[in-house]
Amino acid sequence: MTTSMPILCNVPWYSMLVMPGGEVKPSCRCGMLAGNLNTASLMEIWNGPVYTELRDRLLHNDFSLCGDCYSHRQRHKIFDFPEGTSTAFRLNMAKKKRELATGATLLESGPVDIEMTPYYDCNLKCRMCEWHERKGAWTPKVSAEIQQTLQYAAHIYLTGGEPLLHFESVFWKILNTEGAKDNQDLRITIVTNGNLLTESFMAKYLRHLPLKRVNVSTHATTEKTYRKIIPNGNWRKTQNALHILLELQKTKDFEVMANFVIQKENYHELSGFVTHCEEKGILTRLIRGNGKGKIDLLPSTSAELAAEIDRALEVARDPFNIDELRKIKNFYAASGQE
Ligand SMILES: C[S@@+](CC[C@H](N)C(=O)[O-])C[C@H]1O[C@@H](n2cnc3c(N)ncnc32)[C@H](O)[C@@H]1O
Ligand code: SF4
Repeated sequence: MTTSMPILCNVPWYSMLVMPGGEVKPSCRCGMLAGNLNTASLMEIWNGPVYTELRDRLLHNDFSLCGDCYSHRQRHKIFDFPEGTSTAFRLNMAKKKRELATGATLLESGPVDIEMTPYYDCNLKCRMCEWHERKGAWTPKVSAEIQQTLQYAAHIYLTGGEPLLHFESVFWKILNTEGAKDNQDLRITIVTNGNLLTESFMAKYLRHLPLKRVNVSTHATTEKTYRKIIPNGNWRKTQNALHILLELQKTKDFEVMANFVIQKENYHELSGFVTHCEEKGILTRLIRGNGKGKIDLLPSTSAELAAEIDRALEVARDPFNIDELRKIKNFYAASGQE
């Protein structure tokens, strides 16, 4: 079909999330399951009923399948498809641009932004996270399906569980396959708790990777608060991880980011966190808790939370932080969730 652009969200034309059980989702927030790579091929799922229906609805600005995903409202997920330099990458992107311009819902081009969660294993037990309690890992079939995409992917997002825990045997192996090595346009984001990010890890792996960004989940500005959220975590190691990344940034072009999942134990440190990170040149990812694990914000704290968000808004200078804080403020105001 042909359609009048611009489309408000193009996520299902480029994005795929693959969970430890081989489950495929178009994005982290829509909650839709599009298939399983243990029982179907990647292109079968990519052009299966879930993806095609989602694409068709988005072409008609119908967001009824999108759950609480706000990409279409914020337009922050509108992906700008680069041309690229590597052959497989250029061919795939050229097809994708044509397909999007003509409003195709069945695609010859494959996904170019892939979030990889190959296992749930983790070295820590954060109180708001339930993932470390789960079991599961990619089978060889799932890994093989994903590997095909690395010859033309623009971005892969490595997460878990803790991605650094089995980095050598899982991610390093994937990144050293022919397709990935030939793809000069591939960029990598790693989301880590930072406890295993040492000088030697940096020298052995990070230094050699085409990094886009490394996120370290810190959730606090003090050791006391950090320990309430991650009782078996090591605050000093997390801070050292950020230090190592900031040093590496002097010779390598990538972003350093700190994650902060807002919850009862740490919301009072939100403005301090924003100030500290902005001063150090660390980008921030402020995340409202998704209600999983033991995450909790009591009703009595809502006015205090709103006041803390306002304080953070006063000190924030980074437009991205200001935008995120406004979104979070609006979310709590609209949902009445404290
Ligand atoms: C599941 S972790 C995996 C990567 C790594 N282990 C880490 O902690 O950064 C990915 C991100 O999800 C966040 N997260 C964990 N539990 C959450 C929850 N209940 N709501 C929102 N985000 C959560 C983590 O803090 C982290 O920033
Ligand atoms: S948030 Fe990350 S570090 Fe914490 S338990 Fe979950 S997977 Fe592990």
